[in-house]
Amino acid sequence: MSSTKKQYKRVTTNSLIEMKKNGEKISMLTAYDYTMAKIVDAANIDVILVGDSASNVMAGHETTLPITLDQMIYHASSVVRASQRSLVVVDLPFGSYQSDPKIALRSAIRIMKESGGHAVKLEGGKEIKDSIKKILGAGIPVMGHLGLTPQSIYKFGTYTVRAKAEAEAKKLIEDAKSLEKLGCFSIVLEKVPAELAAQVACELQIPVIGIGAGAGVDGQVLVTHDMVGMTHEFHPRFLRRYLNLFEDMSNAFQQYSKDVKSQNFPNNQEQY
Ligand code: KIV
Repeated sequence: MSSTKKQYKRVTTNSLIEMKKNGEKISMLTAYDYTMAKIVDAANIDVILVGDSASNVMAGHETTLPITLDQMIYHASSVVRASQRSLVVVDLPFGSYQSDPKIALRSAIRIMKESGGHAVKLEGGKEIKDSIKKILGAGIPVMGHLGLTPQSIYKFGTYTVRAKAEAEAKKLIEDAKSLEKLGCFSIVLEKVPAELAAQVACELQIPVIGIGAGAGVDGQVLVTHDMVGMTHEFHPRFLRRYLNLFEDMSNAFQQYSKDVKSQNFPNNQEQY
C-alpha cells in the first residue's frame, strides 16, 4: 500500500484500478443535474453515478423501472457539463439492454454519444454477459452491479439484504468473477453481507464499490439526496446522513413565506 495519495486531474477507469492497487478507497456519489454535479465534482468525489435512482429521487416513481433512455441521457448530459475531475458513469435503464445484445449496444452508444458520459453501468451477472461483451467490444467501459439489483425488484419482491443464503452467495461470487473476466472495470455490490462483499473484493483485481456492503470493499457509493438528508422517509441501516437538508430547506422556505407575507422581503437593499 502506498502512503502518498496520487492526485488525479481527471479520474478514469484506469485510475480506479490504480487506486485499488494503491489501497486508496474510491468515493462515489449520485447526481442527476448540473448544479448538484458541480458541487459533487468540486468536492473531489472520484465517481459521479447518474443512477437510474433518478426515477425515484427526481421523478417520484416507486421503482427505478419507469425511467427511459431519453430521460437518462438528459440527466447525464447535465452532469457531464458540470464535471471536470470526476469519472461520470451512467446507468443503462431497465429495458434498454436485457432483451438483445444489439439493443444493449445501441443504448450504450446513445448514452456515450448524446450525453458525453464516460462509462455505463448494467445490473446483472452471467445472464447479461452477451450484452456486456457487445458493449465492451465497442470500446465502452462497463461497470457491473450485483447483489440487490433494483431493476429486478418485482422478481425479488423486497429490498432486503441479498445473498445471505449459501447458494446465492456462491452465484454472486461466480458472477463477480465472470464480470471481471469479461472486462468490466469495476462492480457495484448493493446490500449484501459485509463478509461476502469483502471476500469478493479480495478475490477480484478490479475495484468493488459497495452500498450497504460493509467496509471491506474498495469504495463506497451513496445516493446524494439521501446522504444530505433531502429525502427523509428512507432509513436503511447503511445510510449515514451528513446533513438534514429537508429540515433546513423547509425552515428556509417557511421563513421566506413569512417574510413575503409580512412584507419584510424584499427590503430597500434588495430592489432597484
Ligand atoms: O441508481 C443508483 O443510484 C444506483 C446506486 C444505488 C448504486 O445504482
